[in-house]
Amino acid sequence: MAYAEQAEIEALHEPKSFLTKYIWSQDHKVIAIQYSLTAIFVGLIALVLSDLMRIQIGFPGSLAFMDASTYYQAMTMHGMIMVIYLLTALFLGASATI
Ligand code: HEM
Repeated sequence: MAYAEQAEIEALHEPKSFLTKYIWSQDHKVIAIQYSLTAIFVGLIALVLSDLMRIQIGFPGSLAFMDASTYYQAMTMHGMIMVIYLLTALFLGASATI
């Protein structure tokens, strides 16, 4: 097959719309960016949980809004989200895909 013909066929498979280029992408570099953005977004949620914990323990007696059980739930969610959704997505998803 001539090189020009090959290039024409490959051009047919290039993603053309925003959806196929950025959302349902098959390009490993775009997928790595998707992993990174997801990890960062989910990390921000875990960060909010850590702020809630900090507010709870930072002002004893005056700003207490969580009971012990809720505090432990926030800590568990924070730890699990950070380790599983942030670290795993970054190290196994984002960096391995690049
Ligand atoms: C990659 C993993 C993690 C990251 C990036 C991370 C990040 C953070 C950050 C930025 C804070 C706020 C800083 C502060 O309040 O001093 C924080 C607070 C906290 N984190 Fe994590 N964390 C991670 C894993 C965990 C795990 C596994 C646990 C426990 C199971 C945990 C428990 C806590 C607690 C209890 C606080 C509140 C501490 C305080 O306000 O004094 N974290 N974390």
